[in-house]
Amino acid sequence: LLAAGLATGLLLPSAIVQAAAAAEPIVIRFAHVVTEDTPKGQGALLLQKLVTERLGDRVKVEVHANSSLFGDAEELAALQRGEVQLLAPSLAKFEQYTPKLKVFDLPFLFDDLAAVDRFQQRPTGRDLLLSMNQHGIIGLAYWHNGMKQLSASRPLQQPADARDLSFRIQSSKVLEAQFAAVGAKSVKLPFAEVRGALQSGKVQGAENPWSNLYSQQLHQVQPYISETNHGVLDYMLVSNARFWYGIPHEIRSELEAIIDEVTYAVNQQAARLNAADRERIAASGQSRIIALSDAERAAWRAAMQPVWQQFEGEIGATVLRAAKAANR
Ligand code: LMR
Repeated sequence: LLAAGLATGLLLPSAIVQAAAAAEPIVIRFAHVVTEDTPKGQGALLLQKLVTERLGDRVKVEVHANSSLFGDAEELAALQRGEVQLLAPSLAKFEQYTPKLKVFDLPFLFDDLAAVDRFQQRPTGRDLLLSMNQHGIIGLAYWHNGMKQLSASRPLQQPADARDLSFRIQSSKVLEAQFAAVGAKSVKLPFAEVRGALQSGKVQGAENPWSNLYSQQLHQVQPYISETNHGVLDYMLVSNARFWYGIPHEIRSELEAIIDEVTYAVNQQAARLNAADRERIAASGQSRIIALSDAERAAWRAAMQPVWQQFEGEIGATVLRAAKAANR
């Protein structure tokens, strides 16, 4: 029939129209591990909204929040298998795919989130989006959450106060070394298990930005939070390269434009969301926020900074230098 239509020149246009109308939309499953009222959670919802508005008949984004589809221990393998198409894991979770992203975990490397932002936007930082190509993972954007604070079952004012406590960490050797540097132990646990592990006493401390502390209600099970701002917890929005480059060019360009817009919004709002959650925790009276003097913060920094040298070889001197330079 099609050949006949081609021959007459009559059938083809309507056949194409029918085929296009019948085409199933491309489904993009976006899984993450935090709640919806966090920078990443809000970003995922905004992405879904803009895609519905602009590409609704051609692309459908499904958002699975709160580790409901995959937890952080298995989400990247699921992305490689094509069971999920978008993720935004914390930069600490790419260890088995590239050593270079370890730069983001180094304690006291970035003075603040503005420095992190500069590093991510400059050429060396942008190149890192493509550092997992050989594993079929493509980085599409960096999304901020915020600077991490140390919470614990006892007040942490000096580095020695952390000695012998067990801290929950993300799956990162740098973070393991960071706690070892102050004589503390660490246990790698998926995000979904953090609250339970703190509540049961399996671990006595953790490190999180305010947004994760509040949205997981960790302040209810951690009586003290030291405002250390000692490191960053940011994300890389990633997809499966084969899937991503398989999207028709015109649709992919539109998706990339939407991602740029969402990235701008997430990165504008992250600091505000974290500040608001800090205030909520302070107002709750359930956890005491401990301020560090300049001398105390310098002592934490001095204790943890040897970790940089330990990982410089793996990360690469150029990447580390570029990260340091972003503080100015
Ligand atoms: C964590 O495991 O602490 C974070 O990576 C969770 C998240 O996605 O913010």
